[in-house]
Amino acid sequence: MSTRADGGEPGIRHTGGLGPTGPVTPVATDGPARSITADGTTALYVLAGSAPVTLSRRAAALALRPLPEQEKYSSRAEVTLPAADADPHRTPFLVEHAGQAVGFGVIDAVGYLSSLTHRPGRAALLRAFYIGAQFQYRGHGRTAARLLPGLVGQVVPAARWLYLTVNEANPAGIRAYAAGGFTDVGRYLGGGLGPQRVMRVAVLTGNH
Ligand SMILES: CC(C)(COP(=O)(O)OP(=O)(O)OC[C@H]1O[C@@H](n2cnc3c(N)ncnc32)[C@H](O)[C@@H]1OP(=O)(O)O)[C@@H](O)C(=O)NCCC(=O)NCCS
Repeated sequence: MSTRADGGEPGIRHTGGLGPTGPVTPVATDGPARSITADGTTALYVLAGSAPVTLSRRAAALALRPLPEQEKYSSRAEVTLPAADADPHRTPFLVEHAGQAVGFGVIDAVGYLSSLTHRPGRAALLRAFYIGAQFQYRGHGRTAARLLPGLVGQVVPAARWLYLTVNEANPAGIRAYAAGGFTDVGRYLGGGLGPQRVMRVAVLTGNH
């Protein structure tokens, strides 16, 4: 697990937005990533370190679950947070909206990137990402997707592209990522769950 950030202060802010359905403008700062929108702030917090606020966010992450039939796509934090803790290349993060934990995901600096790109050392992988079942279909997935390039710029500084694979039978995932700025760059047949789309987005570096 990364120890670069302790989740205290957000770092990429999206200001001037109209809420999860409106446009947002990224503003780079130091720390985690957040979006200030009309209906509250959405922030991505790295779940590294042992500060009380981080331990509280980790507990909130563990309580989040997707729908049971969606677990095949993302698993759940109860499983994937300990797995991330055990792997120094993985950085778990929490999605918060208006102070409420609404989603969870993991940024992986290695994973199966060598199956997705010829330059795995210049890439990062999004995995285990989901919005809690009771918070879905409200724009949080789309908003979190927009914030990911800023978060990755901080936790995997060598990365220029953030990749993911999403099952072709998961239209909500494909639409949320597309709305968040990811583009489809091919097909992936690994993983055993059927064909997946490979999507990627440019990482927001500190120069922006
Ligand atoms: C995929 C997921 C992250 C999307 O998050 P969300 O907050 O529910 O989605 P949003 O409200 O931001 O909506 C994003 C888009 O998906 C669409 N969408 C959301 N839920 C949908 C559903 N159940 N069926 C069809 N489309 C759906 C929205 O209409 C929107 O599309 P649009 O921009 O074209 O209008 C969420 O549904 C989820 O956690 N699913 C289970 C785990 C999963 O599939 N993770 C991805 C693994 S790669």
